[in-house]
Amino acid sequence: MCGIVGYIGAKSALEVVLAGLKHMEYRGYDSAGISLVTENELFTRKKAGKLGNLQELLTEPGIPSSNLGIGHTRWATHGAPNDLNAHPHLDESGKIAIIHNGIIENFSQLRKDLTASGIKFNSETDTEVVAHLLSNSLTAGSNSLADAMREVCQKLHGAFTLVAVHADSPDVIVGARRNSPLVVGLGVGENFLASDVSAFIAHTKNALELGQDQVVELRKDSVIVTTFNGEVVQAKPFTVTWDAAAAEKGGFDLFMLKEISEQPKAVADTLRGRLNIDHILKLDELKISEQELIEIDNILIIACGTALHAGLIAKYAFEEWTRIPTSVEFASEFRYRNPVVTTRTLCIAISQSGETMDTLMAVRHAKEQGARVLSICNTQGATIPRESDAVLYTHAGPEIAVASTKAFLTQIVATYLVGLYLAQLKKTISTVKIQELLILLASLPAEVDLVLDTIEEVRGLARKFANNKSVLFLGRGVGYGVALEGALKLKELAYMHAEGFPAGELKHGPIALIEEGLLVVVVVPSPTQQPVLHEKIISNIQEVRARGALILAIAVEDDQIVDEFASHIVRVPHLNPFLQPIVSTVPLQVFACEMATARGHDVDQPRNLAKSVTVE
Ligand code: AGP
Repeated sequence: MCGIVGYIGAKSALEVVLAGLKHMEYRGYDSAGISLVTENELFTRKKAGKLGNLQELLTEPGIPSSNLGIGHTRWATHGAPNDLNAHPHLDESGKIAIIHNGIIENFSQLRKDLTASGIKFNSETDTEVVAHLLSNSLTAGSNSLADAMREVCQKLHGAFTLVAVHADSPDVIVGARRNSPLVVGLGVGENFLASDVSAFIAHTKNALELGQDQVVELRKDSVIVTTFNGEVVQAKPFTVTWDAAAAEKGGFDLFMLKEISEQPKAVADTLRGRLNIDHILKLDELKISEQELIEIDNILIIACGTALHAGLIAKYAFEEWTRIPTSVEFASEFRYRNPVVTTRTLCIAISQSGETMDTLMAVRHAKEQGARVLSICNTQGATIPRESDAVLYTHAGPEIAVASTKAFLTQIVATYLVGLYLAQLKKTISTVKIQELLILLASLPAEVDLVLDTIEEVRGLARKFANNKSVLFLGRGVGYGVALEGALKLKELAYMHAEGFPAGELKHGPIALIEEGLLVVVVVPSPTQQPVLHEKIISNIQEVRARGALILAIAVEDDQIVDEFASHIVRVPHLNPFLQPIVSTVPLQVFACEMATARGHDVDQPRNLAKSVTVE
């Protein structure tokens, strides 16, 4: 939800932190700020709006040189996105600066108590209470900023990543985390703190995972990690597997366009190493025993947003291949239900960031109920995989654009690998059938490439409909999940009303929305592989056309029937029905991206959104 960067070393902290914040902007861009410590002075600048506004402020003369600094990009939770509420926040002495990601749920009582003790608040944020509490703790005798942080964290409820500096301690940055990401970058004579590795990958690929309820003391040549009680712990090291270039735009105007173009490679990388030469699946990283997996009698997929749509699509294949009842639930709803979950339930948590609070809390809820949890995640060392019994990483590489694209395709592919693995263990489909499907999966990168080669037409259609007020999306079977994903992309990028429906639902109410000229995008199933569904959806097309709708059909290349009923047709390769969503989604991603561009929106950083929603 917010981006956090800290640096201590021999380089210019201003340069390192600002460059790091540039990679953090996708996590929130309502405001940005930086604090530098130099010669026992604290220098702070912060500004509403995007990082560029802060950078402009920092071109003024008088910026001190410093080797220790912290920076923040904000997605507002408490307090409007203005200069005063921008982080860092200071204590009354002006010697302590704090930045925060998350929500401190008991801040209002803490604020009342502090105000009653005479503290004057400058902002509306929950974060500012921490600055004053740290100051009080040091005044009351805490030996160090780290001790003060440990004491204060024990008073806080909710989710938080906190990073603080003190003008009188120019050799240390102190961080803390609970239910919110914070990772350490290990350099030579320098060290880094960040919300994710993209902030320091240009400097080092050596990193440390920080665990729940831990405090880190970062000096230029040492890193000490303790619990909130002060017990020293050994943090788990890991090496980042992608390079800095992967986190850059690579010549594209937009991260989203780059990531759409990377989809063939992302799918190929996700499959790599998981099929042996005989196309037999080997998922060694699944740390759930084969016997436990064989005994699974209920599959529960939990996720949010696009990740949930991947689960909705995978559900059809799971039930077909494994014959295990499979349900898909919004994480935010599951979290507050009293579900029927047992030790024979496999909970599959799908999350690109691995930090989505709704999904994390749902994972914990499922574990409390006894379920085994497997996460499908794109971010190494993230909180959700760390709290799961097993993880299958998608290897899509860093996804910077807020609108998820390559992660979505790889989530479907990775979830399919799990489904086929379960089917292989439970022998619910033959080895020959599994090998056939794995060979088809292996052909997907080339199929996606074909779609990308013919995508220019979609851009033209997006510009043609750029002034629409609303678009409806229809699909049946796995096409319903594609319809939902197409609608979500249009909502989050073009800020346009868009809804996805199961096509069979239209006549139960939504058809009242149809009026002259309304654009309806229809994800059309194969006329040969799914003739009944195809026939039904052609009827649905006729129902809406009869009421004046314009039809944009996403149809397989050899479907001649649809020609008679659609105003516009985008052709995609004709694949196995379960694999069809992989290619049918791509035109809808481009359609939404182009529509947003035509409407002059910031495609990579859409309004009101953030890449990782780390609050409930
Ligand atoms: C998708 O384009 C959105 N960015 C959003 O729906 C996202 O998929 C959702 O917030 C889940 O994020 P996660 O995969 O990181 O858990």
